[in-house]
Amino acid sequence: MRRKTRRGGGRQMELTVETLGARGDGVTQLDGRPVFLPMTLPGDRVIARIQGERGGGLKAEVVELLETGSGRVDPPCPHFGPCGGCTVQHLDPAPYGEWKRDLVVQGLERRGFSADIVAPLIQTAPGSRRRMSLRALKQGKKLRLGFNGRESRFIVDLETCLLVTPGLRALIAPLRAALSAALAEREQADIVVTETQTGLDLLISSAANLDLQARENWAAFAEAQDLARLSWQHPDEESEPLSVRRGPQVSFGGIAVEPVPGGFLQPSVEGERTLTDLVMSFVPKAAETIADLFSGAGTFTFPLAARARVHAVEGDERSVAALWSAARRADLANRITVEQRDLMRQPVGADELEGGDCVVFDPPRAGARDQALELGDSSIATVIAVSCNPNTFGRDARILVDSGYELTEVTPVDQFPWSGHVELVACFKRN
Ligand SMILES: C[S@@+](CC[C@H](N)C(=O)[O-])C[C@H]1O[C@@H](n2cnc3c(N)ncnc32)[C@H](O)[C@@H]1O
Repeated sequence: MRRKTRRGGGRQMELTVETLGARGDGVTQLDGRPVFLPMTLPGDRVIARIQGERGGGLKAEVVELLETGSGRVDPPCPHFGPCGGCTVQHLDPAPYGEWKRDLVVQGLERRGFSADIVAPLIQTAPGSRRRMSLRALKQGKKLRLGFNGRESRFIVDLETCLLVTPGLRALIAPLRAALSAALAEREQADIVVTETQTGLDLLISSAANLDLQARENWAAFAEAQDLARLSWQHPDEESEPLSVRRGPQVSFGGIAVEPVPGGFLQPSVEGERTLTDLVMSFVPKAAETIADLFSGAGTFTFPLAARARVHAVEGDERSVAALWSAARRADLANRITVEQRDLMRQPVGADELEGGDCVVFDPPRAGARDQALELGDSSIATVIAVSCNPNTFGRDARILVDSGYELTEVTPVDQFPWSGHVELVACFKRN
């Protein structure tokens, strides 16, 4: 490492990138601290300018790329760089896949598990994301519509997005035009669009005016774009449908479910199928009673109900309602029971799990420490975990293994191409 002149307020120096960090930034060491270099790769030699602190280290920007390491490819998206949606489009697919798997390995190794239990990564193709969450802001005559920038709340105005399905991509331009007409200066909106089997389901959350004319305009927009449903949510209020032209519908294990506007769904149909197949492959043949904890609207509940009686537990009231009405419509009220419960505050106790054969748990990023402690005290023979955070999964897995379970297999699944997010499905067996 060679120090260079001070310029632009930050130290400039030559650095060689050593590794790719968890968020997809190149990392090297300076005076014993990590330096994060966005859009670089291991082996890159750069002139970098230190910009300030980040976490326990420093963040820096590349002033000049002197030499490239191996595996660099041209990023396919024109927004790569400023856009915060993707951080690793510049890496060849093979080392990219190894890096993603390694994120899971690291989460487990930190808790004393061996890398050997981690299977190869299963990848989901870009262009398959069925959900797009955007922000909009009107400034002067211009409306910005897109994702947050890298480590900033500045909205990167999107022309396209290679992650989402063609149907979602095609909505970006008309949505920009409609929001531009609907929002006043400095007004903002959060948008969630989901591609369902019956068409696009659009939720706009905004404090913007929603008088009769605005309602008519949005109904006309829904008509022109052939949306299945368009809902509006004012701050601190429930969402209300402005146009329902067809009931939006997704299918879990062949059962039709009406998704909650903006509610949780696995990001792609392909990824959901992969996770479901993995979960189902671990369910014991003889299982008669299964608990599905953090069930959402029933992604795993319905496939599981084809094999056993299922008790689904979920915190979100509207997801519970969607699951239950789909179960009743499909005549599955004798196979499925539902419970709305805050599983962080009130995990399902070991005593309540008595007599069950299998538990599936799929918590949010924070993991489910207290639920894992209860499972550890239970006599459940098979626990199947789905996780979107290798670090909290590692912590919860350690709890289960220290209470007598064996962690038999962990399969990483990449539902978030080109980002530092990775999911996994794991199986624990009681010895
Ligand atoms: C990763 S999602 C999984 C949902 C479902 N298994 C699926 O695959 O669609 C996590 C779920 O946990 C729910 N959740 C979050 N916090 C919760 C809590 N404190 N108690 C119960 N459920 C919670 C969310 O509403 C969400 O449905």
